[in-house]
Amino acid sequence: MVRLGKLTDYGLVLMTCIARDQGAPRRTARDLARESKLPLSTVSKLLKELLQSGLLVSHRGIKGGYILARDPHQISVIDMIAAIEGPIGPNGQPDPTIIQTVPRPDFFFLWLFSIFALLPPWTETFLMLTGPVAVIGLLFAVPFISGTGEKSWERRPMSVVIVILAVTLVGTLTWLGTFSPWSPVMDAWSAAPTPADDLKGRTPLELQGALLVQSKQCRNCHSLGGEGGLRGPALDDTATRLTPDQIVRQIIQGGGNMPAYGKNLSPAEVNAIVAFLSTMHPHGQPPARDSAQPAVPASQ
Ligand code: HEC
Repeated sequence: MVRLGKLTDYGLVLMTCIARDQGAPRRTARDLARESKLPLSTVSKLLKELLQSGLLVSHRGIKGGYILARDPHQISVIDMIAAIEGPIGPNGQPDPTIIQTVPRPDFFFLWLFSIFALLPPWTETFLMLTGPVAVIGLLFAVPFISGTGEKSWERRPMSVVIVILAVTLVGTLTWLGTFSPWSPVMDAWSAAPTPADDLKGRTPLELQGALLVQSKQCRNCHSLGGEGGLRGPALDDTATRLTPDQIVRQIIQGGGNMPAYGKNLSPAEVNAIVAFLSTMHPHGQPPARDSAQPAVPASQ
């Protein structure tokens, strides 16, 4: 739907006014304001824009005033709207802090988007160039490869299975494409608060760690309480899988698609984060422990 601004609407009224009575003497801005019943300031503004876009010409002097630059039949409504609305273009300077881009195709191409996101990056160009040629070529070749035999689907169980598999595959890939679990959720750290349960009864150092997990944007990839990125595992029960030493290693060295934070966190910050994450184990489930250390009875 095209939404016309008020000024454009007035512009059309004004142009109609000028187009009427072509033979009459030229009219000034004041005459036109009276005739069109528009405020003089609006009329002056519109006249300036219409002049600039070459739809009107003005003549100075006693018999001066405004007339159409061309025959009225040669001026379309689009010309007039374009003259007043102006070209649609970039508005203002680019803002690099805007990171909420949606790099997704229309829904019927989402499955392709998912395939390329999940396959190794080097296959992308190769598959884009050869894939369509191979698939279309194969479709053309089908009658030559197998032009005889059963046509009814009831007698072709294998074909039915292949079709079901293909539909399921495309459906699953499309579904994955809608929320792309492989890419970070760039506003998770600021949009999702740390669950209150994860903060209850924590020491100051652990709370400091919780703050850092939030501010260092770990949640773009990791969820807490079901909110946050899906690229890395949820951190709610990390302590059941990793000992504090292993968490330190994961944070400093990264790995497995996680960036290394060694150079971006001070030792004190790593300490705080590890202190916090070491408390992340569900009630009744003990944290992971170093198997090289002697076992400690649960009561201690
Ligand atoms: C770009 C996404 C990304 C960011 C940002 C990120 N991680 Fe990770 N993280 C991952 C991925 C992916 C894994 C899984 C690594 C693997 O499978 O080996 C992971 C694994 C982990 C693990 C091990 C989890 C487990 O239970 O096995 C911890 C702990 C961790 N990250 C902590 C952090 C902390 C703390 C931060 C912020 C300082 C952070 N991550 C930021 C992607 C990320």
